[in-house]
Amino acid sequence: MNTSDANHLQGKRILLIIGGGIAAYKSLDLIRRLRERGAEVRVAMTQAAQEFVTPLSAGAIAGGHVYVDLFDWRTEFDIGHIRLARDTDLVVVAPATADLMAKMAGGHADDVASTVLLATDKPVLVAPAMNPHMWSNAATRRNLAQLVADGIAVVGPNAGEMAEQGEAGVGRMAEPLEIVAAVEARLVARHETAGSLSGRRGLVTAGPTHEPIDPVRYIANRSSGKQGFAIALAAAAAGADVTLVTGPVSLADPPAVTVIRVESAREMLAEVERALPVDVAVFAAAVADWRVAEPGAQKLKKGAGGTPKLDLIENPDILATVARCRSKRPPLVIGFAAETEHVIKNARAKLDRKGCDWIVANDVSPATGIIGGDRNSVHLVTRDSVESWPNEDKQTVAHKLIVRIAVTLAAAAK
Ligand SMILES: Cc1cc2nc3c(=O)[nH]c(=O)nc-3n(C[C@H](O)[C@H](O)[C@H](O)COP(=O)(O)O)c2cc1C
Repeated sequence: MNTSDANHLQGKRILLIIGGGIAAYKSLDLIRRLRERGAEVRVAMTQAAQEFVTPLSAGAIAGGHVYVDLFDWRTEFDIGHIRLARDTDLVVVAPATADLMAKMAGGHADDVASTVLLATDKPVLVAPAMNPHMWSNAATRRNLAQLVADGIAVVGPNAGEMAEQGEAGVGRMAEPLEIVAAVEARLVARHETAGSLSGRRGLVTAGPTHEPIDPVRYIANRSSGKQGFAIALAAAAAGADVTLVTGPVSLADPPAVTVIRVESAREMLAEVERALPVDVAVFAAAVADWRVAEPGAQKLKKGAGGTPKLDLIENPDILATVARCRSKRPPLVIGFAAETEHVIKNARAKLDRKGCDWIVANDVSPATGIIGGDRNSVHLVTRDSVESWPNEDKQTVAHKLIVRIAVTLAAAAK
């Protein structure tokens, strides 16, 4: 794939389901954006959606019939709802109303939209849009959690002004181009990213750091380095010149990547600074926040002196140092946030605090098995949007991140 070329979605078939929300007008632009990238777009609309935009407008822009009635004998004998559900590469629901999300979570099938969603065997991406109170309602939270657990990808909603006067908060549908980027991340196959980062320099950090207590003991964490290694590999496969600075892990060097192995946070920072300038820096390492102020020069001994007292001091903040660096700040700085509670809220706060562009937030509470495991559930948090990706293997997460990076760098270069 060449990301400066507009035909990323050539040959891809997308079924767009439009729900009944004010944001339905943006879906007309979404159809146009998908088609200009080469996608073939079929459209189905709920009855409520037709109160906001007409099937005539959607059909004119999509260049085909719009499916609105489950019991329409003409369309049922022509393509039929089961074929509509299957003859596609991806189903996109935009806007996904609170009602439609509830129906999906509950497995309802009482109109063409919900029936197709239940009948499809293809991946589904939803772009929720609703009033902030509807979005934060416990029922919607439950339905969202169910959809994510069912493997459905979510883009947005964003924070901002609502259509209703005086209402603001999280609930605006993601912009059409953000939805297109999420579609591309989902559909563009691995081999198609080849060359999308050629001519770019990338820096990735991975693994834990080890902070010495004495010559044989250290403070560490459970990071395996798998996610960072997968990102470095995917970036190299996309043609980037990649430097991977990793803490101590038991993973082999990925091919075609310059690997620098370090122990401590301070060594990692020094190598990161040496690797600059780059076009994109991804900080996936779990850097220790603290180190022992005065590690023992010799092995600490048990003895009459009692237990040793370890004074901790703060380590340098590698992400913030690079994100706030004046002369060599990479155009795209991406941090990782490992959280055990309030994952998105904490990720947003981290984005502001560190001054980076995106945060990839993951829930690392022990029950998730993410730390050290082979799969990951992440939320991609940017300045004004949140995307929740389904639980996937770390290679898929890496690949999708690389697609997003390639598209973003290509757009910035225009
Ligand atoms: C003016 C107006 C705007 C609405 N906007 C939204 C919206 O943005 N999101 C939403 O979830 N529901 C919205 N609703 C409510 C839905 O239209 C309603 O729940 C409907 O039953 C959804 O049907 P559907 O899910 O089949 O499309 C709105 C209703 C009105 C009258």
